[in-house]
Amino acid sequence: MAGSRNDLQRAAAEVLAAGGKTVALTGAGISVESGIPAFRGSQGMWEKFDPAEYATIGAFLRNPEKVWEMLSEMMDVLLGAAPNAAHRGLAELERMGLLRSVITQNVDGLHQAAGSRRVIEFHGSPEALVCIACWNRYPSAEKVREGIPPRCGCGAILKPDIVFFGEPIPWGAQEDAEAEARSCSVLLVIGTSAQVAPACEIPRQAKEHGARVIEINPEETPLTRTVTDLHIQGGASEILPCLIQEILSPHSGSQSPSENH
Ligand code: OAD
Repeated sequence: MAGSRNDLQRAAAEVLAAGGKTVALTGAGISVESGIPAFRGSQGMWEKFDPAEYATIGAFLRNPEKVWEMLSEMMDVLLGAAPNAAHRGLAELERMGLLRSVITQNVDGLHQAAGSRRVIEFHGSPEALVCIACWNRYPSAEKVREGIPPRCGCGAILKPDIVFFGEPIPWGAQEDAEAEARSCSVLLVIGTSAQVAPACEIPRQAKEHGARVIEINPEETPLTRTVTDLHIQGGASEILPCLIQEILSPHSGSQSPSENH
């Protein structure tokens, strides 16, 4: 079904308003309008920092001081960021009883800051630092204030408890996300290029278990023509408030979205 942006938005709002079990999967794109650069693309983090040198566990083990150059810049950006209308929209959907959980690949804490209560942090959280020599853990803010790179009492350089390439997904997050994917009836996929496994497998799992997949992204992704039922083409902070407005007062004339199939 093809349709105007408004038609597609209305269709998505109807699906959400039906009150099935909706889960959101978010990526860096949802936080772009909070001033946090995404990873891929011309303005992305990986243009400035080669992931092979800065974002693999091997890189951290070889040269943690160098990796902390990136981490410290990243933490400064995260500290200055606030949730945008898309984060607030998801929190609002949860309060309305229309969203069960958010699975996020982001490590910026902006879903929680916006009021979302059930957030599955698929790629971990920088709130804690962990010692990969003796497995001691520390609150991040405190240790970082002591100096960069932060060190464990044993002398080793600490690693934020986020997932580097080559590391497994935190066990609980993987379990919870898979359970949500298998049991949801709608998956809202927002702001991810769907290029990094295993997160990019979540939409396919949801689809195989019968969920409808709604994608919000200004660009097409590998999911768009294969897994996605409804692609709303636009920025998340523009689309989410329109969807909520449409749910609250149907057909009042929201602006926006292209459906496949
Ligand atoms: P990417 O940077 O790969 O993709 C961001 C996506 O957001 C792209 O598809 C953009 O088109 C889209 N986008 C941009 N602006 C948007 C907006 N205003 N609203 C909605 N969408 C927008 O980021 P992720 O897919 O999150 O992992 O990347 C996945 C993982 O790769 C990250 O968690 C990180 C990275 O390497 C690790 O470091 C392990």
